[in-house]
Amino acid sequence: MDLSTPPPDLYGRPRADTFFRFLTAFGDRYSPALGGPLLRRNPRRPFSRPTEALQLVVTARRRVAADVVELTLADPSGGPLPGWQPGAHLRLTLPSGRERHYSLCGDPADPADQADPAGSAERSGYRIAVRRLPDGGGGSAEIHDTLHPGTRLTARRPRNGFAFCAEPAVLFLAGGIGITPLLPMVREARRNGLDWHLVHTGRSADTLPFAAELRALDPARVHLRTDDEHGGPPTGTELLAHAPRGAAVYCCGPAPMLTAVQRALDASPAASLHFERFGAAPVTDGEPFTVRLGADGPELPVPADRSALDVLREARPDLPYSCKQGFCGTCEVRLLAGAPDHRDRRLTPERRADGALLPCVSRAAAGETLVLDL
Ligand code: FES
Repeated sequence: MDLSTPPPDLYGRPRADTFFRFLTAFGDRYSPALGGPLLRRNPRRPFSRPTEALQLVVTARRRVAADVVELTLADPSGGPLPGWQPGAHLRLTLPSGRERHYSLCGDPADPADQADPAGSAERSGYRIAVRRLPDGGGGSAEIHDTLHPGTRLTARRPRNGFAFCAEPAVLFLAGGIGITPLLPMVREARRNGLDWHLVHTGRSADTLPFAAELRALDPARVHLRTDDEHGGPPTGTELLAHAPRGAAVYCCGPAPMLTAVQRALDASPAASLHFERFGAAPVTDGEPFTVRLGADGPELPVPADRSALDVLREARPDLPYSCKQGFCGTCEVRLLAGAPDHRDRRLTPERRADGALLPCVSRAAAGETLVLDL
């Protein structure tokens, strides 16, 4: 996938999905989310250098929670790596060819990770943490089963679509593995003397990555909250009750958590919301349509509340994907006939006119049939 040319509509095509109006976009160039009244633009600018591939090797691996491993990735020759800021993610190409995005959870300011102690922006290692998803697309299982110290893989330089603005008062809300982009932000908030709190939620204590490390940062400001102890997941009101007045909220977790926080925000002490979701956004205004595999192939109905990608993968389990949010381009298929409703933030008008389609988010009007070159 070529990430060298940013799609022109990355910066503002109105989204039908409410979440997408607020979602900070990943992409070749960093862009703050647009149009959402609850979000602030981030003053930091993206890395604008070319997106050459990085050669990496796994140098360390450790278990940080049930079914979560942390990997340290370094330059095979020991050379410096491009710098990054809290919230950045790495796009990895796994040995199988699968592409996946993972947030960097190390500390970009940690001298131990710094190849040049004089203060260069280069780093000697990237850290990511990955939870095994039994019903995922195989990327997390591949990492757990096959990536060990010495394994080589490639990546693109870090990108940041969820940057930290270091507001004076901050509430971090993490759902399970959603702690990964927030962990570097928490360290930075602590270092800068901000008024911060963190609520880390999960099913049980053993599922919370980095719990001991977080407690050690500041036990009075870190609130670990598990469903088994409280009889179920937290409400948005409960989560936001930890917000200092006027706080900026940074939230990363599953869709129900984000929905709950968004709905409770107006009645809370918090002033703004920045968030990053796992995987696909729920389909909020879909119509049922049909995809056909080839001119004479089988027809598959796509229900109003499911993505075409999910339906296609039932027939073609090897169909690749990564973000499921219409920004990475991994799931691209070729459209042979039909009138699509393009909902991605990746394809240029020219690529769309040329038949490119991203079925993880793009759909069609009710009753329409999209014929795909599959
Ligand atoms: S999976 Fe990333 S654009 Fe479809």
